[in-house]
Amino acid sequence: MKICVIGLGYIGLPTAAMFARSGLDVLGVDCNETIVHELNQGRTLIEEDGLAEWIPGVVASGKLRASTTPEEADAFIITVPTPLDVEKKADLSFVESAARSIAPLLRPGNIVVLESTSPAGTVEERLKPLLEQSGLSAGTDFSLGYSPERVIPGNILRELVTNDRIAGGIDGASAKKIAALYRAFVQGSIYETDVRTAELCKLAENTYRDVNIAFANELAKISEDQGVDVWEVIRLCNRHPRVNIHQPGPGVGGHCIAVDPWFIVEKNPEDSQLIRLSREINDRMPLYAADLASGILSAIEHPAEEEHPVGATYPKGVGRPVVAVLGIAYKPNVDDTRESPILTLIEELERRGMDVRWHDPHVRNRPGNAPDVLEATEGADLLILGVNHTEFRQLDYRSVARSMRHRNLLDARGSVDAEAARSAGFLVYALGRGHRLR
Ligand SMILES: NC(=O)c1ccc[n+]([C@@H]2O[C@H](COP(=O)([O-])OP(=O)(O)OC[C@H]3O[C@@H](n4cnc5c(N)ncnc54)[C@H](O)[C@@H]3O)[C@@H](O)[C@H]2O)c1
Repeated sequence: MKICVIGLGYIGLPTAAMFARSGLDVLGVDCNETIVHELNQGRTLIEEDGLAEWIPGVVASGKLRASTTPEEADAFIITVPTPLDVEKKADLSFVESAARSIAPLLRPGNIVVLESTSPAGTVEERLKPLLEQSGLSAGTDFSLGYSPERVIPGNILRELVTNDRIAGGIDGASAKKIAALYRAFVQGSIYETDVRTAELCKLAENTYRDVNIAFANELAKISEDQGVDVWEVIRLCNRHPRVNIHQPGPGVGGHCIAVDPWFIVEKNPEDSQLIRLSREINDRMPLYAADLASGILSAIEHPAEEEHPVGATYPKGVGRPVVAVLGIAYKPNVDDTRESPILTLIEELERRGMDVRWHDPHVRNRPGNAPDVLEATEGADLLILGVNHTEFRQLDYRSVARSMRHRNLLDARGSVDAEAARSAGFLVYALGRGHRLR
């Protein structure tokens, strides 16, 4: 069996490699020539645990090749981007161009699966008509459907195998064929359903998480006002057997949770008020974190004795405040900065006149990355933990403290070892933890 995977990004490349490892012949297609060239040399540009070790083997075995153009195959899997446009609607142009490139190659008996996250109805309304320009009929001549991916970046290769999966078909036979296709490597259950249900499931899963995070973010603000620690509140609430409150933070990033809810709002604006409001609450969190930072810095300029531990002294006026931010990826231990709220936070701090330096050990090829933590914190008035990468768990607070002009730390993730930081002389603040700094 030959499979053509269109789009070799975070989802497409691991999926293509997984099919190839299962013994199928896979052609990976990407319009980006560098990705294609690198893959054919056995290299990947994506940071994903285990992938760089796998790729040389599957490429050398001849089971995985890459090209900029698709070829005839038994199955086509579309894993191209579906970003938001300026009106916060799904930009389906990549899906449509992938469909146009497949249509002339379609043969009776083929299977076409969309994996890209898309508004409900995309397969029937946008993909099917383009594919049927081949002269073949979906459902009659070829199978067509939607099978969303639920993997978590950083653990994709394991979750591709173990996660349960949904196989949505435009008819029952298509759903069966799609389920059988993924059986090549999926060990979790595969649930067959209709295509529109599968599309909405993917959106509903991520929207559930976005709404839950918005609730946690509101709780964080409420906790600050009540003088309690939201992280402790949530930890204790989650001891209830039927409660699962997510974590608050400086915003929601990535191109899934921060994007997918809009695909529901786009189709049903009147009926999705909670969903829209949650998105807006989460989108405002980087500004909230910037307010906390401003509050801490203005405490340096105008020290209020009651807010500081005995013995803390600050010069009045620090000139242009310098802020060091650790982590800019959208979540821990990945290199992906798409929709990262920390980038919005940095922009906002700069807009407020602060000099911002940052360091992220995972992010390559982005100008401005300080070579290490101490280079970022040198002369800083405030250190912000933006992303709780594993590397930041065991910071050498004494060295960091020595490098800084003022020892202030804002923990935006509730994960700093506050005792260690305090004993190195830091004043430690945390989003959601018992201060009203704004
Ligand atoms: N990354 C995730 O964690 C994740 C999880 C679940 C679902 N998804 C969804 O999967 C889809 C793909 O996401 P991703 O993170 O892999 O994107 P990505 O940007 O990492 O990769 C997409 C690739 O498709 C290529 N491409 C675009 N148009 C093309 C075309 N017409 N022909 C060939 N190649 C083309 C791009 O060059 C790019 O390399 C999106 O809809 C996303 O929402 C992503």
